[in-house]
Amino acid sequence: MPAKDLDQIVNLCKRRGFVFPSAEIYGGFRSSYDYGPLGSLMLRNVKEAWVRTMVQQRDDTVLIDAAILGPPQVFEASGHLENFSDPLVDCTVCKRRFREDHIETRDCPQGMKGCAFTESRAFNLMFKTTAGPVEGSGADVYLRPETAQGMFLNFSNVLQTSRKRPPFGIAQVGKSFRNEITPGNFIFRTREFEQMEMEFFVPPADGPKWYEYWCKARLDWYIELGIPAEMLRIRAHDADELSHYSAGTSDVEFLFPWGWGELEGIAQRTDFDLTQHAKASGQKLDFFDQATNERYIPYVVEPAAGANRTMAAFLLAAYDEDVVNDEPRTVLRLHPRLAPYKVAILPLSKKETLTPLAREIYGTLSQRYMCDYDETQAIGRRYRRQDEIGTPLCVTVDFDSLEDNAVTIRHRDSTEQVRVPISSLLSEVTSILGF
Ligand code: GAP
Repeated sequence: MPAKDLDQIVNLCKRRGFVFPSAEIYGGFRSSYDYGPLGSLMLRNVKEAWVRTMVQQRDDTVLIDAAILGPPQVFEASGHLENFSDPLVDCTVCKRRFREDHIETRDCPQGMKGCAFTESRAFNLMFKTTAGPVEGSGADVYLRPETAQGMFLNFSNVLQTSRKRPPFGIAQVGKSFRNEITPGNFIFRTREFEQMEMEFFVPPADGPKWYEYWCKARLDWYIELGIPAEMLRIRAHDADELSHYSAGTSDVEFLFPWGWGELEGIAQRTDFDLTQHAKASGQKLDFFDQATNERYIPYVVEPAAGANRTMAAFLLAAYDEDVVNDEPRTVLRLHPRLAPYKVAILPLSKKETLTPLAREIYGTLSQRYMCDYDETQAIGRRYRRQDEIGTPLCVTVDFDSLEDNAVTIRHRDSTEQVRVPISSLLSEVTSILGF
């Protein structure tokens, strides 16, 4: 039973140290969030799972890490300065601003009487800042609104250094910034967020084939990491929804508590970006195919996901409440790859006799896995805490362990407990986790 409303996750995240409102001691900084001890681990796991699938397990892709700040020429050529905007309406009575495409009627979403909206106007989402000590427009720089441009700018560098040829992909994970008109729904829409994007360069005629391929591959990724298939769908964009660079986009959508919402877009960017940058920079951004003696500008298929949004979806889908030994419990049934801790080592009591052995086991397992060590509170409460933060396995060290050199492994999902010799603990844990 996934979470029914967002507050269940927001509260758990705050209570257990996944996500905190940013600058909270100053009253919070609207729509920004800090990832705490558990949230930072989980967010990192989401990104690592993406890199593992999109780069590590393929021989046709490479990873880069490009600059966040860029000069105006980049975003003039990419079309973002001219076109990257949302339709904004102001309410002349309550003075609030709304995205026109997010409000269903001309009635104020705040429910105030007599609100009246202005005509909609295009509001550019780019964040501008100034680089260096020089005043004036020459020093204007922009925070990237997507990681994608870094891949187009480095197309030739990668081609020359990596021995790849179309079809091949350049992937990147990193922060992007958008001055969203209406951020909200916790970490779903924020002004600062992380993207996991791949530009996949293909011979133009193969564009449609690869578009189909990536739509399916990306949907499967979420299912493999534990989101039930019925909470996911692929939705093709209507023509009026398409970004300025796209000839066709489909979204992977997740059934959030407020309805279907986008996790990822798979776009056919054609040769739009390489052509634009080639024109603006005067550099050749094409590929010479020695086999066919043909020179062409590759087409691009782009699977572009958001790490934070995806983390919210994984949390919502994993949330469950059940009853164990007549007591209600909250459990996050996270895929082991996504769980912040893979194993918690719990000495049955805080007695000094158990600590050295428990510490030794922690030392061994933590060489391989992110582990927690906890010797506070009664064991039952510690199990509940680990269930609530999604730890797949607990290893309990008790007084018998000192005699029989064995410990108990407790499974999060079934609460089943099995006794295993300490000598085979690591291989047992590896076989249960599957990695
Ligand atoms: N390069 C293509 C691109 O940026 P997009 O659909 O605008 O496409 C890709 O963004 C993904 O980035 C989205 O599917 C979403 O998961 C994430 N994303 C976009 N804006 C976001 C925001 N304001 N807050 C959190 N995530 C966001």
